[in-house]
Order: sequence, then C-alpha cells, then structure tokens
Amino acid sequence: MLKIGVLVSGRGSNLQAIIDAIEAKKIKAEIAVVISNIPGVAALDRAKKHGIKAVAVNDKEFKDKSSYEKDIIAELEKNNVGLVCLAGYMKLISPEFVRHFKGKMMNIHPALLPAFPGLHVQRTALEHGVKISGCTVHFVDEGCDTGPIIIQAAVPVLDDDTQESLSARILEQEHRIYPEAIRLFSEGKLKIEGRRVKII
Ligand code: GRF
Repeated sequence: MLKIGVLVSGRGSNLQAIIDAIEAKKIKAEIAVVISNIPGVAALDRAKKHGIKAVAVNDKEFKDKSSYEKDIIAELEKNNVGLVCLAGYMKLISPEFVRHFKGKMMNIHPALLPAFPGLHVQRTALEHGVKISGCTVHFVDEGCDTGPIIIQAAVPVLDDDTQESLSARILEQEHRIYPEAIRLFSEGKLKIEGRRVKII
C-alpha cells in the first residue's frame, strides 16, 4: 500500500481532508508521517489525534537549507514514503529535494495556475479583478508552483468578496480535489507527459 508523507507548516485543513478520505476508505493509502518545519502547529495535533506519526523538524535549528532538507528526506525515506504531499508547507523545495521525489511530490495551490503563483494569492487575485479563481493540485518541479497540473477546480469571485470569503470558497474545493488527486496517484492513474498529466 502507498505510504504518504505530508509536509505542513500550519493549520492543516488539507491534511485533515486527506486523513478523512483515507479513513472513509476513498483512498487506499496510509499517511506514514506528517512533518512540520514549525513546531507546535495545529496540523501536527490533527495527525496525532488520528494516531499518525507527527514530527517537527525546525528549519531554524539548521545551519543551512541543505542540511535541513537532508533531515526531512531521511525522515521520509525511513518511513518508506512513495508520495510526498505538500499541504500548506511554506518553504520552497530545493531542486535536489525535488529530484529526489521527481513525479512523486504534489502541492495544492489556491489559484488557477499559472495565474497567481507564490504568496498572497487571494489578495492578488482580488486586486487584479479576476471573475473566476480556484485551486490547483500539481506535481512539484524545480520552479515555484510551475509543475504539471493534475486537477483544477474553479470558483466564482463575487463583487463583495474579501480575502477571507474567497479563501473559504476556494478551500472547500481544495479539500475535494487534493484527496482526489492522491486517489488517482495511488491507483496508478496519473501519467506525466511533459507538462501534461493524463488521467488514464
Ligand atoms: C491552502 O490554501 C493551500 O492551498 C496553500 O496553503 C493553504 C494551507 O491550508 N498551499 P491548510 O494548512 O491546509 O489549512
């Protein structure tokens, strides 16, 4: 059975959606470990509550990014992880780390990529005046939010939306498409062909 490692930095609502989908037997996989670069975050508590191994690897305690990531990779390998899911993980992944899990690392982003990559996504989308936004699950490549797109979901942007109301509407879709992308991966149904991901 596929073993998943989830990297988090905060609230962990996407982690929760993945846990719930696994517990409901919608995905045949197991979360082997949840790793946070920030100790004490809610995501770690969510994991523990469901009997999932939760580890904090505080990036601030390392002399550089490479030694920090070595620890993370070691933790993932120790747990035989075959898929790494970034779920609100707020650090950029180095090219070495990406290469280590090439085609086996996914991220969820709260916009319809390639629009609005990076940070402050909903604010930028509102400032830009888009009428439709949404979320994207993609494989991670060496760029920031640039990897092959697996699933997207669109939501309307309303005239009176605030960052909070738009984020909430998008988040609801995130919680639907992230578990779905993981299910497809776990069933061997995702085929990467260049920039495109075919669902077979
Ligand atoms: C989500 O909006 C996700 O798209 C982005 O970070 C946020 C994480 O939220 N990458 P949560 O920690 O999963 O609740």
